[in-house]
Amino acid sequence: MNYMHVDYSTKIPNNVNLSEDRQVLKALEGWHPGYMNWWSDMGPEGFQQSLVYLRTAYSVDPRGWAKFDYVKMPDYRWGILLAPREENRVIPFGENYGKPAWQEVPGEHRAMLRRLIVIQGDTEPASVEQQRHLGKTAPSLYDLRNLFQVNVEEGRHLWAMVYLLQKYFGRDGREEADELLRRRSGDADSPRMLGAFNEATPDWLSFFMFTYFTDRDGKMQLHSLAQSGFDPLSRTCRFMLTEEAHHMFVGETGISRVVQRTCEAMKEAGIADPADIAKVRALGVIDLPTIQKKLNLHYSLSLDLFGSEVSTNAANAFNAGIKGRYRETQIEDDHRLPNATYPVLKLVDGAIKRVDEPALTALNMRLRDDYTQDCAKGMLRWNKIIASAGYGFKLSLPNVAFHRAIGEFRDIHATPDGVLIDDASWNKRRGEWLPSTADGDFIASLMTPVTEAGKFAPWISPPKVGIDNKPGDFEYVKIEM
Ligand SMILES: [Fe+2]
Ligand SMILES: [Fe+2]
Repeated sequence: MNYMHVDYSTKIPNNVNLSEDRQVLKALEGWHPGYMNWWSDMGPEGFQQSLVYLRTAYSVDPRGWAKFDYVKMPDYRWGILLAPREENRVIPFGENYGKPAWQEVPGEHRAMLRRLIVIQGDTEPASVEQQRHLGKTAPSLYDLRNLFQVNVEEGRHLWAMVYLLQKYFGRDGREEADELLRRRSGDADSPRMLGAFNEATPDWLSFFMFTYFTDRDGKMQLHSLAQSGFDPLSRTCRFMLTEEAHHMFVGETGISRVVQRTCEAMKEAGIADPADIAKVRALGVIDLPTIQKKLNLHYSLSLDLFGSEVSTNAANAFNAGIKGRYRETQIEDDHRLPNATYPVLKLVDGAIKRVDEPALTALNMRLRDDYTQDCAKGMLRWNKIIASAGYGFKLSLPNVAFHRAIGEFRDIHATPDGVLIDDASWNKRRGEWLPSTADGDFIASLMTPVTEAGKFAPWISPPKVGIDNKPGDFEYVKIEM
């Protein structure tokens, strides 16, 4: 069978020869109706009968894998797509470094592997749930289409993890697959597993921040799992990463367009000080200080997803050959790290200091550092837009000690500059750094939908290019409620 191409003749499109894997096919077909129910209950609200110009993967060849067409979301072909198998692939790190990659689950690491797959799987439907109300307030058909593209692909990522659970983990895998459809983002009794995935995504600026910062955590996790010695997991994650790139593009360009529009409006109105919030808001655009607050919130929530800076779980997963480092194969070291150290930010005598820790237990910190570096690229782009409009304002990432609920800094308060402060000062000043109810209300007041092809809400600029090179007035969604 040709692993590049996807078989669409079956109910569940796939490139894993499902039609000859009766047991797994049966398990997936049994899971399918529950998934469709979940999609209709928790997927995008409204628009289920609308024709959406979506891309669907027809191949896993990175040079050309998607085709675009109008699809009703419930008819989207969610499938199982793994990157092609690499001949003679070896485990690229850990105690089994250099041994052949596993095609079956190594018995001694079964529980750890299952847990990592479940955690990754849980984030995928969670974000769809978080974003389900946004369709009603989309600033354009272009943005509406991008939202739905992200949503259907997160649905597919759930399928990807469910396939692994059902194929490789027997009965407990099937139970976990059912649980993934049972938990709900933000639910008091059965929430999603990770904090950031239980937060609300109340408006489109939040959506762009989420796809920029939180989907980027997903990118880092998928990169680490793409290194896995368990080959089916590696291949799944490698293909997911090609889809994930678009999600972060939506975030980065979304924020760029908001910043752009704000700067244009300030300039037209002759406003010299971007911090003159009342004047800027009166123009019907989102002021830069509020954008900074949203950024502070989403970045700090996303940092928590990396777990504790020092973690024996992370060391165990690495030693076992289950979860590697970002770009593991490009790192020049022994890929085992028995004696290496890594500098970890810690609280020492009431101050934030770098302390050398064994590199193995500091893997979460390292991945988080890689993440921070990746996040910084957006600041450069956004600040360039602000500077070219002639303003001195700069967006920046807050200090990693700011607003944390997990890890070394969870019990202290710090300013975005990393100055430690007491509870009273925090309570007094947090509104300067994190979105307040009034900020949220103001943003919500701008969220009126624009559904005419080629038109955009006045708080956001049009994109530079269309999806699939379509012209500016292309009807990305044919709305049918
Ligand atoms: Fe995803
Ligand atoms: Fe994503």
